[in-house]
Amino acid sequence: MPLVTFEGIDGCGKTTQIEKLSEYLKSKGIKHSIFREPGGTKIGEQIRNILLDKSNTSMDPKTEFLLYAASRAQLVKEKVKPELEKGEYVILDRYIDSSVAYQGFGRGLGKRIVMLVNEFATDMLYPDLTFYFEIDKETFEKRMKPKKDRLESEGWLFMERVIEGYNSLKRSKRFVTVDGKLGENEIFKVIIEEFEKHFAL
Ligand code: TYD
Repeated sequence: MPLVTFEGIDGCGKTTQIEKLSEYLKSKGIKHSIFREPGGTKIGEQIRNILLDKSNTSMDPKTEFLLYAASRAQLVKEKVKPELEKGEYVILDRYIDSSVAYQGFGRGLGKRIVMLVNEFATDMLYPDLTFYFEIDKETFEKRMKPKKDRLESEGWLFMERVIEGYNSLKRSKRFVTVDGKLGENEIFKVIIEEFEKHFAL
C-alpha cells in the first residue's frame, strides 16, 4: 500500500492538512496510519526530545543528522513497514526529504551523505507521493512568532538553505508542490485531487 509524505519548512501548514486528509480517508472507510518525525515510536519520541530541546545548543550537525536517521530507522522497522504490509496507507509528517533539506542543505552536510545514510536507515523505502508546501518569508515569520523549538529558532537565513534543499528534490516524479499561501480549503482540494489521481480512490 502507498506511503505518502508531507514536507515543508516550519510553519508551512502541512500538519493541518494531514488532519484533514485523515478525516477524509476515515469518511471513505480507508484504513491508514499517521506518524510524525522525529518520533512516532517510543524510542523515536525520546530521540525527538533530545533533538528539539532548546538547551542542547552544542549539538554537532553530524549528531543531529544521525539522531534523525536513528529515529527514522526505528519508525520504519517498528511501524511503517508493518502497516504497509497489512495493506494500509501510511502518512508521514516529514521523512527523508526533511533530512536532505535541513541537514543536507540547512546544516551543509551535503545531499550525498544524507541520501546514503537514509537509504541504509530505511532499507531504501521511498514515498509513493510527497506533498511539499511552499511558503515565503513573510508567511514564515508570521507563523513562527509563538513557541520556538531548537530548529524553529534558526530563522529565515537557515530556512532559505532548507528551501534550496527542497527545490533540489522538485524534479522527482513523486513530488507535488503545493502553494502554502492558499487558503486551507483550496490546499485541501489540491491534495484530494492528487490523491485520487495517484491512487484511484
Ligand atoms: P516539529 O515540531 O515536528 O515541526 P513541524 O511541525 O514543522 O514538522 O519539529 C520537527 C523539526 O525537526 C522541524 O524543525 C524540522 C526538523 N527536522 C529536521 O531537521 N530533519 C529531519 O529529518 C526531520 C524529520 C525534521
